[in-house]
Amino acid sequence: MRVGVLTGGGDCPGLNAVIRAVVRKGVGEYGYEFLGFRDGWKGPLENVTCELGIPQVRGILPRGGTILGSSRTNPFKVEGGVERIKENLASNGVDALVAIGGEDTLGVATKLSELDVKVVGVPKTIDNDLGATDFTFGFDTAVNIATEAIDRLHTTAESHHRIVVVEVMGRHAGWIALHSGLAGGANVILIPEVPFDIEKIVEHVESRFRTNYSPIIVVAEGATPKEGTYALHNEELDSFGHVRLGGVGDMIAQELEKRTGKEARAVVLGHTQRGGTPTAFDRWLATRFGLHAIEAVHDGDFGQMVALRGTDIVRAPLAEATRELKVVTPELYAEAGVLFG
Ligand code: F6P
Repeated sequence: MRVGVLTGGGDCPGLNAVIRAVVRKGVGEYGYEFLGFRDGWKGPLENVTCELGIPQVRGILPRGGTILGSSRTNPFKVEGGVERIKENLASNGVDALVAIGGEDTLGVATKLSELDVKVVGVPKTIDNDLGATDFTFGFDTAVNIATEAIDRLHTTAESHHRIVVVEVMGRHAGWIALHSGLAGGANVILIPEVPFDIEKIVEHVESRFRTNYSPIIVVAEGATPKEGTYALHNEELDSFGHVRLGGVGDMIAQELEKRTGKEARAVVLGHTQRGGTPTAFDRWLATRFGLHAIEAVHDGDFGQMVALRGTDIVRAPLAEATRELKVVTPELYAEAGVLFG
């Protein structure tokens, strides 16, 4: 058996741990051969491959990023893309694929598996917004990086009696904002799921200053203001209809400065949340995902994705993972006690 492996979408700490586990168990236990496809679906589409075996996966467990490279290429948006993928898999003697990725990469895997390509998926995203799995690897690392930043920002905010607005990643879901905001003791947490009311934030910020406290506001990049409460100054929206990456934190800081008369600063954590070495939890989860993914290949259980349910790794149909995004529930948001919608 020859198995192809690819990583697609935004990179994520733990990708290398998955690749390593897949290859080590595949070679050691099943005697499989592997072929790496470079840069997500671009690899099988354009036949860009690389050697993948025990020597290539040695020492990569703690390394961030992905040794296979990544891209957001979608073969269904390319004329004849699916046929080219099938031809390239056949010409390389690849019998099955392990596709490691998020919503888009697994969406492609879902459609390809319906077209008889043998594929097993591994869910990945720092955003933790994939359905069918309790957690994705990369999320814990991102939350830890954001929490450390919030801890540091508390002390500088206090020293200067400033408001600090910390913008974290999360276009469609506020998981990173919610978890890091709670862990870092933020005063306000704003998420895409609940449009925010700037007036309520102003009231809260002012009440914090009355007790001599400098507030920290954590905002997910996809958060938007409640309609009719506050006009955005920066009208530039991305293709999802959200304020451009890096925009919302800055705009909130400017608006709060204007309305409260207090100095405010915005800090955009951006891609630092995705870079560098994975936490122990993410290495543990990614390794288990890899071991179970190659087991699914061995069982011939294609069209499936590995998933975490409680502490068990299970298999779920690929279509289930991409059907609906997993977003923060109103109950969880309410529990945090930081409602500003
Ligand atoms: O989906 C993961 C993610 O990190 C999002 O949180 C973020 O909006 C996006 O990717 C950034 O994408 P890019 O790396 O293409 O700028």
